[in-house]
Amino acid sequence: MEREEFLSKLGIGALAVCMGCSLVACGSKQNDPTITNAPSPPATGSGTAFTVDLGTTLTNIGDSSTMNGIILVRIAAGNLASSFTAVQVRCTHEGAAINYNTGQSIFICPLHGSEFSQSGAVIMGPAFTALQKYTVTINGSTLTVTA
Ligand code: FES
Repeated sequence: MEREEFLSKLGIGALAVCMGCSLVACGSKQNDPTITNAPSPPATGSGTAFTVDLGTTLTNIGDSSTMNGIILVRIAAGNLASSFTAVQVRCTHEGAAINYNTGQSIFICPLHGSEFSQSGAVIMGPAFTALQKYTVTINGSTLTVTA
């Protein structure tokens, strides 16, 4: 009888603690002025989105460039198309601008914490739709992102 009573009280206490953590985590970034909404990404098939000169930019793994609603990131050494990834910068959850986390090799949304793979697939929600991925081609030192 004493043990049952103890476990019952413990269960209620643990539930109250978990609910408190959850509420703090959800609301903590909603009003952060440093988190901005990103522009809408270009429609696929609309053509060249932008070009960059690899002689002067994106020289280190993790370097990124954001233009026209797309974030381009160097993910490996060398100037091969596979050394880069380009995805929409607008989070598919509520539109915040995602960032690339070099240490984890994933995209993370600063607003609610959604995580996306280098190819844009959802790793962790609340987002449930993948990021649009764009084609990267390289000619000489010119990298082109095509929508
Ligand atoms: S806007 Fe909510 S997870 Fe990105």
